[in-house]
Amino acid sequence: MLSNLAEIEQEINSFSVNNPEELEAFRLKFISRNGLVTGLFEELKSASRDEKPILGKKLNEVKKLAEGKFNSLKEQFENAVEAGDKLDLTLPPAEFSIGREHLISQTLAEMVKIFREIGFKVTDGPELEDEFYNFDALNTPAHHPARDMQDTFYVQNKFDKSKKYVLRTHTSPVQIRTMLANKPPLRIISPGKVFRNETVTYKNYFMFHQLEGLYVDKNVSMRDLKGVLSYFFKKFYGENTQIRFIPSFFPFTEPSGQIDISCFLCEGKGCKTCKETGWLEIGGCGMVDPNVFKAVNIDPEEFTGYAFGMGMERLTMMKYGITDIRILYQNDVRFLDQF
Ligand code: DAH
Repeated sequence: MLSNLAEIEQEINSFSVNNPEELEAFRLKFISRNGLVTGLFEELKSASRDEKPILGKKLNEVKKLAEGKFNSLKEQFENAVEAGDKLDLTLPPAEFSIGREHLISQTLAEMVKIFREIGFKVTDGPELEDEFYNFDALNTPAHHPARDMQDTFYVQNKFDKSKKYVLRTHTSPVQIRTMLANKPPLRIISPGKVFRNETVTYKNYFMFHQLEGLYVDKNVSMRDLKGVLSYFFKKFYGENTQIRFIPSFFPFTEPSGQIDISCFLCEGKGCKTCKETGWLEIGGCGMVDPNVFKAVNIDPEEFTGYAFGMGMERLTMMKYGITDIRILYQNDVRFLDQF
């Protein structure tokens, strides 16, 4: 009988009860008049005098165990029913997460809004580009180092091996597409994804976003360029933001400039973020090279234009003090939810 008792005790403990029906099954099996525990009390009657006290004590413990489990579960189910009765249907629903716009999308929307307000139209181009638009028409000849396999993802056309496609390495090809399809005056921006065959580190990723700008008209000058970029950065980073151009080189602009903005963290005084220089490099720009105009059949004697390009991740990371680009693409909601 002792071993029997131990078995029943184990059964009581492991019997799973998840609803009132199962609780009733539990009651019937162990504590009802025909249940196992009651049955053992019958058996106890025929035990020897010596055994009786020990077995009786153990049996009582098992009985208490079964009743205890039954009573606490019963209470639990009754409380649940009561809570159900008190359900207030007029309460507002519990909040649930429907996700949010990604930080880069937010930046994109903000940049587009600022440029649209001053007359720029948004245009688009494909991410899988023809080499012609990505390089040739942008005055980047075949031997140019930017075409190096290290930087560019080449895609082979299975059916026409002579045609080479690339994952666009910048948004500048949209300039070419726009100028081929439209006559000046043109005032466009083009945000989008670009791809480079780079080793992923805290500051480089194989995919990122750029925003391209292009303005073509009669008598466009570098002053216009500086005015527009200055306006943009004041809106984006704050009224006190200053910009400066540093001579640089891009095949598709002449002259070319590197765009620096005054560090908005220290307001130009010098800090860790700007490496004590007071300035932050933020993109490239310049006057459209006459060779680019020739490639798209625009007369460089009649028209001039400026162009610029900047990286959205860089702008975003600086604005929010993010120090590792990879975190933008790990889709960790604990990070994304903060913005
Ligand atoms: N396409 C350049 C890059 O990817 C950025 C750039 C520089 C764009 C000068 C421009 C420009 O339109 O005029 O680094």
